[in-house]
Amino acid sequence: MKTLLVLYSYHHHNTEKIAKVFAKVLDAEIKTPQEIKPDELREYDLIGFGSGIYSAKHDESLLKLADELPRVNNKNVFIFSTAGMTGKSKAYKDHSMLREKLESKGYTIVDEFQCKGFNTNSFLRLFGGMNKGRPNVKDLKNSEEFAVKMIRSQKYNLSIYI
Ligand SMILES: Cc1cc2nc3c(=O)[nH]c(=O)nc-3n(C[C@H](O)[C@H](O)[C@H](O)COP(=O)(O)O)c2cc1C
Repeated sequence: MKTLLVLYSYHHHNTEKIAKVFAKVLDAEIKTPQEIKPDELREYDLIGFGSGIYSAKHDESLLKLADELPRVNNKNVFIFSTAGMTGKSKAYKDHSMLREKLESKGYTIVDEFQCKGFNTNSFLRLFGGMNKGRPNVKDLKNSEEFAVKMIRSQKYNLSIYI
């Protein structure tokens, strides 16, 4: 299974920490959106798209890449992020712009991952930031489990018990 991670992570490299765990488990390459030529994504069986959440969405460079992607037929992808504030419905909203762009191009979103990331944006800097130490060991463990699940979801399983 050839896997690619398209990553943009600049604030504290929080999302990069998660992507490195994914890369190890999935034996994946990591590239920035700027390094990608949209057509080259055809070579991959599974692609993860991730960045920090900035102003309630993924980074513009990922969103722009999603706009430039060719249409495909059911290619499996996943979405990931780190954010200051998390939660199921928050993550769903944070991911919605990227999710909608990918789905409109025919990509199948297999799963999505979000965890907290250290945030010193704006006035938070004055108070030492929020989520200090995140992603932490538990977050990295969760990302490892998520990646293992990704591998399982790519395999055809036929379990018949008679
Ligand atoms: C300019 C900026 C805007 C941000 N906007 C949000 C936001 O809308 N919602 C949120 O939960 N976190 C927000 N954050 C926090 C980041 O999502 C969080 O720190 C993330 O882990 C950064 O990822 P990175 O280190 O990979 O860049 C923002 C951070 C920055 C620097």
